[in-house]
Amino acid sequence: MSKATFELVCVDCRATYPGLELRYRCECGGTLDVVHDLKAVAAAVSRDTFDRRRGTTHTLDRSGVWRFRELILPVDESQVVTRGEGNTHLYDSPAIAEYAGMKRLFLKHEGENPTGSFKDRGMTVGATVARLLGMHRVACASTGNTSASMASYAALAGMRAFVFIPEGNIAHGKLSQALAFGARTLQLAGDFDAAMRVVEQVCNQENIYLLNSINPFRIEGQKAIGFELLQDLEWRVPDWIVLPGGNLGNSSAIAKGLMELHELGWIDALPRLAVIQAAGANPLYTAFHTGRPVEPIVADTIATAIRIGNPVSWKKSLRGIEALNGVVEQVTDQEIMDAKAQVDAAGIGAEPASCATVAGLRKLVSSGTIDPGSTVCGILTGHLLKDADVVVGYHKGTLDGIDAPHANTPVSVPNDLEAILAELRR
Ligand code: F0G
Repeated sequence: MSKATFELVCVDCRATYPGLELRYRCECGGTLDVVHDLKAVAAAVSRDTFDRRRGTTHTLDRSGVWRFRELILPVDESQVVTRGEGNTHLYDSPAIAEYAGMKRLFLKHEGENPTGSFKDRGMTVGATVARLLGMHRVACASTGNTSASMASYAALAGMRAFVFIPEGNIAHGKLSQALAFGARTLQLAGDFDAAMRVVEQVCNQENIYLLNSINPFRIEGQKAIGFELLQDLEWRVPDWIVLPGGNLGNSSAIAKGLMELHELGWIDALPRLAVIQAAGANPLYTAFHTGRPVEPIVADTIATAIRIGNPVSWKKSLRGIEALNGVVEQVTDQEIMDAKAQVDAAGIGAEPASCATVAGLRKLVSSGTIDPGSTVCGILTGHLLKDADVVVGYHKGTLDGIDAPHANTPVSVPNDLEAILAELRR
């Protein structure tokens, strides 16, 4: 194994632990950061190294996570569990820009990862650490995407996967992935937050490796969203990055990665961060605007991916938001679905939680927080097909409490040439 150049540091009390250790929390209960020796990183690689790797055929270089390995997890390369994640497209969409009130808008589509969400970037690292620690069983609580991703990477690595999901509250695309990839799937009564509480206890008692984003190595992988985005933009720093917030691992990760790049002197400024929550699942929004710690709530939103009332990574997320001069906005389910209709109709498509990004951006432009002429990059976190039921429900006008002004209603026509032509000419 290459020499470890990282350690774990408690977010609350700053206690430190060796880099590769079976541990998710500090003795004081605080969450942990992976802290890299940036001097060692700078001595080993540069931005150019990462750019050169992009064009090679080497398996690790072709992964949009492991291409940045010195800044993610410097470990024995033969142990890496990868599906070539990342390398997601950066769309430049005039139609969605116009909807959001922007002159121009970039959207990085993390739904183009192997299992259809950004979770793969964290999971490739989490699964690799599980292997390095000699763990044969992994588990997570999930609103769907984490479980889909973990089930895939566990199968790839020959590990047994256990997923804990809120019964009836995860989209079928995600549930079908967990089942198909062979994860033992426990549907629990109650919500994601309840499942999250119990999975940590189960993992500790049964010596199963926990792969929720409380696991600091998941966060390291997800930093690569920001790294790759900057690479896409030839290292020109955008004014804003906008993304949805649920359990708040992803905002924590992107902010942490950018702060590291800045500390290395590889970017000359930090972008601002806008985290968008669903109005029915908005504990970070409330904390940010009241200046008080996050208080758990019972969450409810059509965007089931972010139906989370007690986010695990809120301290890390707020720390990142403060460092990046960020903001937190909230959007209603109607605003999410209106924005989704635009993202989908533009030919790009994304699941509801992802479209909170565009809904929130639109709101921040109209309130004057974001200048229409600034460079904004929104993150679309999950693939449209993750939640096909919501798409069909929207277009058939059957979603409870949602108006569907952009419905593309399917029509039933007899299988008869004249009737079909009459319908087409209407
Ligand atoms: N978008 C999608 C599509 C998600 O699946 C999630 C989280 C988020 C946004 C929010 O990201 O939690 O890092 O703030 N999904 C988790 C899961 C909770 O279990 O799949 P976050």
